[in-house]
Amino acid sequence: MTITSAPSGQAARDSGLLRYRPEFPLLSATTYLNTCSLGALPARGRHKLDEFLDQWERLGASAWYSHWMDELAALRDDFGWLIGRPGSEVALAPNVSVALASVASAMGPLHSGEPTTAARLAEAWGFAVSPRPTARRPRVITTALDFPTVGHQWLARRSLGVELVVLPSPDGLTVPLADFEAAIDERTAAVATGHVYYTTGAVQDLAGLARICHRNGALLIADGYQASGLIPTDVAALDVDAYVSGTLKWLFGGPGNAFLWLRPEIRDALDPTTTGWFSSARQFAFDVEHLDLATDGRKFEMGTPAVPAAFIARGGMSLVREIGVEALHARTVDLGTLCIRLAEEAGVPVQAVRDPAWRAGIVAIAVADPAPVVAALASQGRIVDARPGIIRLSPAFYNTEEEVAAVIEAIVPLVNARE
Ligand SMILES: Cc1ncc(COP(=O)(O)O)c(C=O)c1O
Repeated sequence: MTITSAPSGQAARDSGLLRYRPEFPLLSATTYLNTCSLGALPARGRHKLDEFLDQWERLGASAWYSHWMDELAALRDDFGWLIGRPGSEVALAPNVSVALASVASAMGPLHSGEPTTAARLAEAWGFAVSPRPTARRPRVITTALDFPTVGHQWLARRSLGVELVVLPSPDGLTVPLADFEAAIDERTAAVATGHVYYTTGAVQDLAGLARICHRNGALLIADGYQASGLIPTDVAALDVDAYVSGTLKWLFGGPGNAFLWLRPEIRDALDPTTTGWFSSARQFAFDVEHLDLATDGRKFEMGTPAVPAAFIARGGMSLVREIGVEALHARTVDLGTLCIRLAEEAGVPVQAVRDPAWRAGIVAIAVADPAPVVAALASQGRIVDARPGIIRLSPAFYNTEEEVAAVIEAIVPLVNARE
């Protein structure tokens, strides 16, 4: 397969970025188009882990005070930088599920119709949370394209009267704003959905969705996992109420790190009902009788963080900060565009948003039974992944055009053999 023409601007966009390839040993061992599942480990992530181990070995518990608390604060700053907010507004979490669960834990009063929270939110926002402050808002809306944990938080609260509404996707790629608008009503507490769908890589119009939510007095909770490190994000401009994300994928930081940002007024108005001593305003007072929650983002933190994971993540974040999200986005989207073009030319059924302005890092290929195709590619050293009914290809800034072309070329006979 030949790469006949480069996407526009590509030469300018990739010059320089491929110099980072040697930082990723995995790239010399495989053709890795699976960053949407797990970003490759950069050398600086390993160095940061060594730094943690050295400190532990040399200093024992005093490393908490001399180094580790500062490292956690620096990770909050990194996450804040990603979304255009100060690190002090960020809560660290071990994964997005915990981050979402702590928000969900705080929303009980909204679901049950207890007036205090609704009234406080109405005051904080300057718009009505509910036309009737005691009205019950049992509903949360998500979509069929969202990551399961986003819906599961609310299904787990069914016994508390919470109802989950799952909007279908008419085209298998996105859910139109009009469908959200039709579904949101005065019984809706929140919309919880992805900034970028993990299934299709489609970018959601969060600003448009926030307007619809707020018109109806509902919160917008966004899962930014497939956006962070790829889509320049300013949560204040988007007007979202809660934003969660983590380091597994486009932040090259591995497992064990996620974060929650809440709009400060919402943070102040909501009290978590699951918590831990890292959320305490007086953490080192060791006061078992009183819970004074922190007044900043830490209000929604839990217990002892996975410090080694935080160190590794800071390695990935230093790379993202060095390159910049705009440059990462431009290069990634160009590779996605190439991927779509080559797959279409080869007659492979592509399931992806064609407009690069609304696509992040995933190009899906529809295959009824994807697992054997993914396994066959893996046996050739070509790493992609499968979700029900699709193969996900996710070239990142460190991939080359040749790698994309080689994977498409290898997929064609495998997909055709299964049709
Ligand atoms: C969109 C999205 N949300 C969430 C997750 C992961 O959630 P958690 O951090 O709870 O494992 C993933 C991938 O693993 C994802 O792609």
